[in-house]
Amino acid sequence: MSEFVTLHYEGKELKLPVLIGSEGERAIDISHLRQETGFITLDPGFANTGSCTSSITFMNGEKGILRYRGIPVEELAEHSSFTETAYLLINGRLPLQKELNRFSVLLNDASLVHEDMQLFYQNYPRGAHPMGLLSSMVTALRSFYPELQTIEEEINVTVTRLLSKIRTLAAMSYKISRGHKVVYPRADLSYCANFLNMMFDSPVKPYQIEENLVDALNVFWILHADHEQNCSTSAVRIVGSARVNLYAAIAAGIAALWGPLHGGANQAVIEMLSQIQQSGEPLSKLVERAKDKSDPFRLMGFGHRVYKTFDPRALIMKKTCYDVLEKLKIVDPLLDMAIELEELALKDDYFIEHNLYPNVDFYSGIVLRAMGIPTNMFTVMFAIGRLPGWIAQWKEDADNPNWRIARPRQVYTGPVRTAYAPIRER
Ligand code: CMC
Repeated sequence: MSEFVTLHYEGKELKLPVLIGSEGERAIDISHLRQETGFITLDPGFANTGSCTSSITFMNGEKGILRYRGIPVEELAEHSSFTETAYLLINGRLPLQKELNRFSVLLNDASLVHEDMQLFYQNYPRGAHPMGLLSSMVTALRSFYPELQTIEEEINVTVTRLLSKIRTLAAMSYKISRGHKVVYPRADLSYCANFLNMMFDSPVKPYQIEENLVDALNVFWILHADHEQNCSTSAVRIVGSARVNLYAAIAAGIAALWGPLHGGANQAVIEMLSQIQQSGEPLSKLVERAKDKSDPFRLMGFGHRVYKTFDPRALIMKKTCYDVLEKLKIVDPLLDMAIELEELALKDDYFIEHNLYPNVDFYSGIVLRAMGIPTNMFTVMFAIGRLPGWIAQWKEDADNPNWRIARPRQVYTGPVRTAYAPIRER
């Protein structure tokens, strides 16, 4: 039986249909509101607005649930690989063995990038942030590998290219930023091992692939693979809604992810902890500053728009962090500081009242440091992980016969009609 809510306005009423999702979330369908009533809705930050229906990822922020295509992220982190999870997100189901093998072959076949792309890197200003570089390079891919969007198989080629080449581009940017020789991808290595090898192998010191780090990278990327309609994913969908090519839509997502309130938080957490380590200030001072409304400082790696309890990704990331440091016998004083800071914050009234818990970025930087990833590349690592989710979300729109360009409205609050004043009369 259809459900409605009734809107009473100006002595009239309008029945608005209620849409119920497969996990019971309820939404009021206002798609005809303006046409029927002349009203629009206002929702800064879109905290109450569903921009689409989606069958990709389910989150429940009150209960700390995250599932991709119905499968709990905890199970994927334990049993799956990043490439299998990418397949799941993009194709809607787990692959059969032969499908996974074929996917791996396609990823390997697409892993080289055009040699001319190295020239871009050579001429980019030294010290440029790798996120700016990554977004430019992903846009440039469109010119080197024109998109083939006419039939499903051709879309798959573009998707595989992007998934494979983003990893090569990221490692290449690191090597060139250090003035070192680029390391090419190897077909005999898995997706994660290949990335670590391209980052750290050198003609003078061959890289010893450490399986514990490969496993940790798989977990890191699985945990980041999708997160429904967050800022960067919404950017991908909105930019994609203009029917721009997939590369450009993904580049928009990368740009959005760069921000410190979003993916840039993993870099900001380590910078925050390192600063405190250098200054020797007590950690309690950070908590006090975070509570002080006259200070713009926020405790990085804490809080989330959706999670009002522990971020399930943060729990897995914390465990991965302990495992990696223990197995590799690494002592990182920043881990001790992070644990102490978490304890302080979690018993603080302000953090309790505001439901502020550590998010995925709080511990992820410590895992990335253990791998040897430089701090300014942390958000690039997030972007590689988020790529399957962005692609799946873009594809969901592209496959939707009712796809419309995204075009929000506004409530105008500027001057009413004003006559143009000639310059000498102003
Ligand atoms: N430190 C101190 N206070 C905070 C924090 C924080 N990290 N996060 C939120 N608050 C306070 C905020 O001041 C506000 O207080 P009040 O209601 O008294 O004015 C209240 O909590 C609600 O904050 P908000 O900014 O309205 O919440 P939001 O949903 O708009 O923002 C957030 C979510 C993630 C941007 C925010 O929590 C934040 O800035 N966190 C730090 C940055 C961070 O770690 N980002 C990574 C997010 S997880 C990775 C990803 O998926 O992007």
